[in-house]
Amino acid sequence: MSVVEKFRAISQGISGFVRSRFKFIVVAGVSVLVGLGLAASYATVLDYTSSLNFCAHTCHEMESTVYQEYMHSKHYKNEQGVVVVCAQCHVPHDNWPAVLGRKAMASLELWTHFVVFAGEGPDGVKRAFQARRFELAKRVWAGFKADNAAECKACHKYANMVLEDQRPSIRAEHTSAMKTDENCLDCHKGITHHVPADPSAKAAPANSFDIQ
Ligand code: HEC
Ligand code: HEC
Ligand code: HEC
Repeated sequence: MSVVEKFRAISQGISGFVRSRFKFIVVAGVSVLVGLGLAASYATVLDYTSSLNFCAHTCHEMESTVYQEYMHSKHYKNEQGVVVVCAQCHVPHDNWPAVLGRKAMASLELWTHFVVFAGEGPDGVKRAFQARRFELAKRVWAGFKADNAAECKACHKYANMVLEDQRPSIRAEHTSAMKTDENCLDCHKGITHHVPADPSAKAAPANSFDIQ
């Protein structure tokens, strides 16, 4: 067989294969494209809805309250210039069902914004939000309790703390906390936002250690 004939035989083989499985190839090709499209839009939507811009500036109630407090916290401005964005504390890491669950909750929050708070001016929205803050904070604390502050521990690990560099009082707290892998929020409430007042309490708590 000459080279030309060999080439012709091979190309006939390929076109025969394509013809006999044409439908399958089209379906497989389209599925791959749809899959890639879904993956890309999933990633884009998740990335966008996890960005500081989206979380802080989409709703006035965030922008005028929790965001203002966050901007004065160490997680926004610090000696090293490290920025920790909302989603790094508020969206679970490395667990896509939990990420989708959190996003579904956020959609309900958008419902509250657009439907329950509808017709309220910016001041009304801010007031309505303030009235719910304690309930919302309790939900966030419950989330950290449930996963033992996994979001915090994605960055801060007891094992990596240089305890000798901490003040003796702090060192003592962390040395005992490390033994039980304690939830950071047991001691560190209100580090990024003000601790909202409990509307049912007679007096505001003196500090975050008074809230359990
Ligand atoms: C994306 C990484 C990241 C995540 C997530 C994170 N932190 Fe931090 N945290 C930092 C960095 C960086 C600093 C250092 C800022 C500085 O230099 O003071 C810091 C500082 C702190 C400080 C000392 C400053 C202060 O505000 O009192 C505490 C306490 C703290 N983090 C607790 C937490 C807790 C509790 C969580 C979870 C609710 C958390 N962090 C989540 C990165 C993170
Ligand atoms: C048993 C209570 C307790 C637990 C649990 C605890 N801390 Fe602390 N931590 C303290 C106290 C008290 C301080 C000093 C006061 C302050 O800064 O709020 C402190 C200070 C810090 C500081 C500042 C250190 C410095 O040298 O200024 C960081 C960062 C910190 N904690 C992170 C964490 C993280 C992250 C967790 C969870 C992995 C955690 N802590 C768990 C009690 C605790
Ligand atoms: C370092 C972790 C961390 C970061 C960053 C962070 N939060 Fe929070 N957030 C918390 C914790 C912890 C609570 C529970 C209340 C508390 O202890 O302050 C909370 C509570 C809240 C609440 C419930 C209402 C309330 O007042 O407690 C909202 C809403 C909220 N955060 C939105 C945001 C937004 C928006 C951003 C970004 C602009 C952000 N958070 C950034 C840790 C964080």
